Amino acid sequence: MALKITVIGTGYLGATHAAAMAELGFEVLGLDVVPEKIEMLQRGEVPMYEPGLEDLLRRHVAGIEGSSGRLRFTMDFAEAGAFGDVHFVCVNTPQRHGEYAADMSYVNSAIASLAPHLTGPALVVGKSTVPVGTADRLAAYLAEHAPGGADVELAWNPEFLREGFAVDDTLHPDRIVVGVRGGQAEKLLREVYATPLSEGTPFVVTDFPTAELVKTSANSFLATKISFINAMAEVCEAAGGDVAKLAEAIGYDDRIGRKFLRAGIGFGGGCLPKDIRAFMARAGELGADQALTFLREIDSINMRQRGRMVELAREALGGGPFLGKRVAVLGATFKPDSDDVRDSPALNVAGQIHLQGGQVTVYDPKGMDNARRVFPTLGYAETAEDAVRGAEIVLHLTEWREFRELDPEKLGQVAARRVLLDGRNALDPEPWRAAGWTYRGMGRPAA
Ligand code: UDX
Repeated sequence: MALKITVIGTGYLGATHAAAMAELGFEVLGLDVVPEKIEMLQRGEVPMYEPGLEDLLRRHVAGIEGSSGRLRFTMDFAEAGAFGDVHFVCVNTPQRHGEYAADMSYVNSAIASLAPHLTGPALVVGKSTVPVGTADRLAAYLAEHAPGGADVELAWNPEFLREGFAVDDTLHPDRIVVGVRGGQAEKLLREVYATPLSEGTPFVVTDFPTAELVKTSANSFLATKISFINAMAEVCEAAGGDVAKLAEAIGYDDRIGRKFLRAGIGFGGGCLPKDIRAFMARAGELGADQALTFLREIDSINMRQRGRMVELAREALGGGPFLGKRVAVLGATFKPDSDDVRDSPALNVAGQIHLQGGQVTVYDPKGMDNARRVFPTLGYAETAEDAVRGAEIVLHLTEWREFRELDPEKLGQVAARRVLLDGRNALDPEPWRAAGWTYRGMGRPAA
């Protein structure tokens, strides 16, 4: 009989995983403790902007015309416990307020709420990004609190999806990593992932700590690549070099690779920044903090880029205070194809200039509602053109496709001055310069 699957937590990770599991043919029950989220999902609506996710969801949510009906939602842990053979835990682990460490309260409460309802054979699979050692601790908790006793197993199966590509990354993963401790876990997870879609996908079986560390070390490596190229951008700026050319040239070396070498205002979002901090905090607890001191530098190079952008803007405006200066900001989200503004470098730069007295007007294709919620005192415009109207400088801070398609001449007609700073090195300088704009990237020559 086909396995039945529950997915606990229906954020980016959980909603996508639940829909993907239904797509693969499983009966799926998604659980969340936030009623509004459940109501939206039951209507086939997604509480965030993620390309392709709503379509995938609507293909499977029970009650939607033409759907497979394989995906349902609940708030009831008893129902989830009775339903699932495999329970994926997909709740988030944000940075703890005022600390580096991860806030484990959602993971802990998900496991505590589920455990009493695991009466028969069941596999609990952690997908959340957690401090190493969590799986050990949760396995011990389940052994003590789940009535099913030894029939209730735990596995760790980190997820590597990127926002903006969540559906594709889930349905076509680069690799599947499962941390197990004997028992049936590996066999069951091979069954879950034994689909035509994952054929040929490397399946790496590890112990618990390795599986947990794969995730945090992968994110640390990605963060390191970005901060490395941003450090090179600083040197290029000082020496008159071009970091975009440098990245291209070093990237042709396969050992280095061309991806994740785009210099700019740095990384943000709900993962990389908090994951490297939580990793440092955990290493400290383990007495291995020396090993990760470099991550502190990665973090500080990253945060410095936001300040550099603010200073570049000040310089381009002739120096001195921002007071009364009109600044257009294109982009608010931490990356394109997402409405997520968590730890967004773009919004941070906009906020810094605003707090220094600048008259900032922000436009973002999908992130306006979230940006308004997080930073209500900034100015907002409904279109890029409206944001630029009357601006003495334009800052391009999130590389949406829409911004690459802007007409520099048309925009120049509404701007007070034709000055553009590209904080993502993502626009083609030529058409902008041809239309009379002063274009500056980060770590690139002024002209
Ligand atoms: C990341 C990891 O990529 C993913 O594997 C993990 O599961 C979750 O964290 P995500 O946060 O969605 O995914 O975004 P990602 O595409 O990694 O970008 C992170 C940040 O780095 C963005 O702010 C992006 O603008 C920035 N970035 C990325 C750069 O500044 N330069 C680059 O070259 C690449």
